[in-house]
Amino acid sequence: MNRQFPHLCSPIKLAGVTFRNRMFSAPMGGTDITNDGCIGPKSTAFYELRARGGAGAVTVSECMVHPQTDGSHAYHLDTAILNSLASATYTADAIRRHGAMPSLELSHSGMYAGTYMTDKTRQHEMCQWGPSDTVRPDGVPVKALTKEMIAEIVAAYGTVAGLAKRAGFEMLMIHGGHGWLINQFLSPYFNKREDEYGGSLENRCRLACEILDAVRAAVGPRFPIEFRMSGSELFEGGYNLDEGVRIAQQIESRIDLLHVSAGTYQRGFGDTHPSMFKEHGCNVYLAAEIKKHVSVPVATLGGLNDPEQMEEIIASGKADVVYMARALLADPELPRKVTENRPQEIVRCLRCFTCMAERAATATRRCTVNPLIGREIEGCEVHPAPVKKKVLVAGGGPGGLYAAYTAARRGHQVILCEKENELGGILKSEQAIPFKKEMYQLTGTYELLARQAGVEIRLNTPVTAALAQEMKPDALIVAVGSHPLVPPIPGLTGDNVTIVNDYYKNTEKVGNDVVVLGGGLAGCECAVHLAMEGKTVHLVEMRDALAPDANVRHRPLLLQELDKQGVHIHTGFRGLKVTEEGVLCENTATGEEVLVAGHSVICALGQVSCTDTVDELRDAAPYVAVIGDAARVSTITNAVYWGYHAALDI
Ligand SMILES: Cc1cc2nc3c(=O)[nH]c(=O)nc-3n(C[C@H](O)[C@H](O)[C@H](O)COP(=O)(O)O)c2cc1C
Repeated sequence: MNRQFPHLCSPIKLAGVTFRNRMFSAPMGGTDITNDGCIGPKSTAFYELRARGGAGAVTVSECMVHPQTDGSHAYHLDTAILNSLASATYTADAIRRHGAMPSLELSHSGMYAGTYMTDKTRQHEMCQWGPSDTVRPDGVPVKALTKEMIAEIVAAYGTVAGLAKRAGFEMLMIHGGHGWLINQFLSPYFNKREDEYGGSLENRCRLACEILDAVRAAVGPRFPIEFRMSGSELFEGGYNLDEGVRIAQQIESRIDLLHVSAGTYQRGFGDTHPSMFKEHGCNVYLAAEIKKHVSVPVATLGGLNDPEQMEEIIASGKADVVYMARALLADPELPRKVTENRPQEIVRCLRCFTCMAERAATATRRCTVNPLIGREIEGCEVHPAPVKKKVLVAGGGPGGLYAAYTAARRGHQVILCEKENELGGILKSEQAIPFKKEMYQLTGTYELLARQAGVEIRLNTPVTAALAQEMKPDALIVAVGSHPLVPPIPGLTGDNVTIVNDYYKNTEKVGNDVVVLGGGLAGCECAVHLAMEGKTVHLVEMRDALAPDANVRHRPLLLQELDKQGVHIHTGFRGLKVTEEGVLCENTATGEEVLVAGHSVICALGQVSCTDTVDELRDAAPYVAVIGDAARVSTITNAVYWGYHAALDI
């Protein structure tokens, strides 16, 4: 068979060990870590699905090596705990039995220990230890590690590496990037030591080298050791790519794979985890440059989700391995689809950060486009229904499409009716916004999957009670979505006003000076886009804060982007009247009336559920489920999740 992506699919040997392909699963901290720091069964299932999906290696993160001085958040694995060896063994087995190489990430947070999320009780009294005495931006004092403590930490890496090998892990990733302890020592910004661990580049690399030596001594020669580094710290005062090259050269003789990431968690979250405002593969240049100066194989990552692009990266010699984190949440089967020449079936990551935000918000994991994520243990198989039924789905947005796809996979006869002449619901509007192109493409992918599963799709067909009566479905899934809220503000129905959802049909109508009325997520993203196009944009929001409906990871990056693009922000302004000159507003603090000038106005004031249709269809079949915005104006994440489960419940 001719593989469409021969480079991605070709095996690679590291330290004499063969990996089945070059698509590796990057570390993604599990959310099911037991209270004493072991890998819980849900996390094991999470990693196992990545292995079943065809990845060459699956990295389990983040194993603390020295709990006495570490623990950045509540989800660290702690090998000092008796049960941890067993839990690690079950996890390594779960990965290995599907042909992927189980790898374990060993990390130490250094001065950023105890920073994030919910502090474990035991961390409240913790001291933060780093290369040098300092005070963190959040006011927490940091003490310099003594040489004795450094020796203890180095030895601990060796001990844990030995345990990991005993548990069945076949590769180790030493985390030397993203601003954590080893990175802090490498960095001239953090490391102000005057002993043999600070000053010259060679000295700053000493901790990394000693750790790698301790790990090698514990695991022996034919065992791949990978070093994860930031190719550049990407902030003022941190090391740059030139120094990144020299760091790589200091380290390469001790490792089998050099993993080049970017930036630091604390000072460049959107670089380390490239946001939707960045190009896919925006960090590949770092790996490509470093690869020119080292002889060890090099891995790259960062916003990669397109097989064509990843194939080119390997084919052109920019890197030897590609890693993916979020792309494998969106579609754990991505490597398998690439291998089996089915790239069109890949459900692409939206880079919406639901995955990372959910951990902060609820201590669980979710992915917008994949309802299984975080719940893999509940079963990844969609089982055939015992009794086959006729299922009618009203509405072809993401929730309706996913429901139809799932119901069809269960063997039901499924008809999906969409009242418009195009599928996608609210996602249709994303086609005008290039940084949200995956959101628009999602409809096409779900449609393909649904059609392949046997769903019949009828466009221009609104589902009414009469139609349902005629079709006599056993089950009806109501996914009719929402419509824009257009409050009775004078002038809001004028010719110079475009509803945000309709912008894609009216791009020509929107001139060079625009007022976006409504600073929720949709309004903010539209404002960013219009400003990127070179327009003068004013954003008017009645509340004090912008985009309160955006998740905690996306929101700061969105606000940064509004600032970067020069959008003029008017919070605490209530729109009173739209005129040809702009929007007359009331400053809610002072009561003063102010004209926010702009010849075009975008109305982004929110959505309202299509309750009339819901009410009409409530009794139109024996089983009726209302999902997505039709049930409650919410997120794509909820629409897809509810759609999936409504179909399983039939
Ligand atoms: C949900 C999530 C959890 C992550 N947890 C870890 C972690 O525990 N350790 C780590 O080194 N990197 C972690 N990362 C960073 C990823 O390994 C990766 O470097 C980053 O997401 C960029 O890759 P991507 O664009 O393919 O997502 C995490 C990323 C995500 C999305």
